[in-house]
Amino acid sequence: QLILDLLDANGSIPDTRTLTIPGQSQPAASQDAQIIVLGALNSLLSREMVTFESHETLAHALTPEGTQIAVEGSHEARVWAALPAKGQGAPVTVPKLKELVGNEAASVGQGRAFKNKWIEKEGDGFVRKAETIQDSTKLDMLEVQSTGTLKTGDNVLADLRKRKLIVQRKAQWFTVAKGSNFSTSTAKPETDLTAEMLTSGAWKTSTFKKYNFDAEGAPTTGGSLHPLLKVREEIRSIFLEMGFAEMPTGSFVESGFWCFDALFVPQQHPAREVQDTFYLSDPPRSLDPEPKYYKTVSTVHEHGGFGSTGYRAPWSHDETTKLLLRTHTTASSAHMLYKLAARCRGESVDEDDRPTASVSASANKSPSGVDDGFRPAKLFSIDRVFRNETLDATHLAEFHQVEGVVADRNLTLADLIGFMKVFFSKMGIQQVRFKPAYNPYTEPSLEIFAFHPMLNRWVEVGNSGMFRPEMLEPMGFPKDVRVHGWGLSLERPTMIRYGINNIRTLLGHKTSIDAIENSPAPML
Ligand code: PHE
Repeated sequence: QLILDLLDANGSIPDTRTLTIPGQSQPAASQDAQIIVLGALNSLLSREMVTFESHETLAHALTPEGTQIAVEGSHEARVWAALPAKGQGAPVTVPKLKELVGNEAASVGQGRAFKNKWIEKEGDGFVRKAETIQDSTKLDMLEVQSTGTLKTGDNVLADLRKRKLIVQRKAQWFTVAKGSNFSTSTAKPETDLTAEMLTSGAWKTSTFKKYNFDAEGAPTTGGSLHPLLKVREEIRSIFLEMGFAEMPTGSFVESGFWCFDALFVPQQHPAREVQDTFYLSDPPRSLDPEPKYYKTVSTVHEHGGFGSTGYRAPWSHDETTKLLLRTHTTASSAHMLYKLAARCRGESVDEDDRPTASVSASANKSPSGVDDGFRPAKLFSIDRVFRNETLDATHLAEFHQVEGVVADRNLTLADLIGFMKVFFSKMGIQQVRFKPAYNPYTEPSLEIFAFHPMLNRWVEVGNSGMFRPEMLEPMGFPKDVRVHGWGLSLERPTMIRYGINNIRTLLGHKTSIDAIENSPAPML
C-alpha cells in the first residue's frame, strides 16, 4: 500500500531505500527491508500494478558487535558513562569497572576513552575528564545501519571494517514505476466472471487476473483397458494372424442341449450337477432343439450309432431344455459347427452367414470329388464362462475361456499338436508338453503343460482334443471331416504375465483401479 500511495503521489519511486516502512524496526535501506520490499513488488508486478528495476550496490552492514554498539554505545562511551564526574564521587577501580561494563568493554573502552581524553586517573581508579562526549562510533553504526554507508567517507568505513564492526555486502534496491493496471487499491483481482457481477454491473470496475497460459492443466482421467482385455486383445491377434475367424459368443445362457448333449456329454455326467453348473430358475426352460438333430443326438446317447455303442443310459428330455449359464465356450463352438455342417445336411445356406474359413474352396473336395457341402473352418472365441466353483485365490465363479476350433478333412492328432505348438509359442510359451486326458466330447484328448521358468515347474495351460464322431456326425459332417479344438483360461496367462497370484487382485471389489490403469501392455 505504501508503494502504491507513493506512486500515486509522485508518479515513481526512484530508490526504494528511501522508503519508511511502517511497523518495521529495520531501516528501509537494510537488506532485510529491501527483501520485504521485493516481495511486495513481485506481488504487485504479477497484477501488473507496478513495474520495477532492480539495482545492485555494495553496501555496508553491521556485524553483531556493530549492532550491539548501535544499541548500547561504544565501549569507550560505556566506560565514560560508568564513571563519576571529577570530585563528584569515589573513583572507580579496574575490577569495579569490569563489574560494571564487562571485561571486554572495560579493557578496550578504557584505552580509547583515555586517548579521547574522556577520562583520567585519580588515585587507584578513574573519573570523567570531559563533561560531555560525542559517541561518534555509535553514530557511525546508526548511519551505516540506515544508509549502508557513511557520509564521512571511505577512510572511516575502512577503519570500521578493520575493527570488525561493519562488513561489505552486495545489496539490492529498486526503482519503481506504475504498471498498466495501476491502482491504489490492493484488492485481490477476480479470477472468475460470475453471474452476480454481470447482474450488478460490478464487472465494469473489477480487475481480473490474467490467464496464465503456461500453467499446467489438471491431469485428465480416462478409461483404460483391464489387463484381461489387454491379453485378450493379444490372443485375439494371434488367432487372426493364423487365419481364424471369431465366433459369436454373446449368449451366456445356453440350454443343456447345446452345452452338454450336443457335445456327447452323458446326461449323468457330474459336471451337469447343480454343484458344478448354475441353472436358471426364471425362465427355467429353453425351446426344443431342431427335431431331426435332437432325435439323432438322443439316439447316439441312448443307443449309439456312427460306429459307437452310445452310453446306453436313460435319456431325459428334461435335461436338454434346462437353461444354464454356459460352463464352457465349447457350447458356442457346437452352435458354430452345427451351422458349418448345414450345407452338408443339404440345407440351403446364405454364403454370408456361413462361418468363414481361410482355406480355398478348391481344397474342399470330398474323396469322391463331389462337393458334399463341407467347407473348412478355423474359428476362435474368447469369452466368459460360469462354474459353480468354491471360490479361492485362483478360482472365481466366472472366468474367461480362449478356444480354438479347426475343421478340415483328415486332420490328425499331429495337426492338433502342431497347431498348439505354434499357437503357444506365439504366446511366448516355447516349451510345451502334452498329457493324455479325458473329455466326453474329444478322443483322444490332451492336456497341455507349459514350463514356467519363474515357478520352475510345468503348469497346466490348456485342454484339447479331436472331437468325437458321436458329436460331429449327428451334425451332418462327412466321415472324413475331423475337427480339433483346444481351450485355455484367459485368467491364468494374465496372472502369470502380470505377476498376480490372487485372482481377486484382478477381478472384483478388491481390484485397485490405479493398478489397472497403470498396468503395462503385455509382452506377447
Ligand atoms: N471345453 C474344454 C474345457 O472347458 C476345453 C476344450 C475345448 C477341450 C475344445 C477340447 C476341445 O476345458
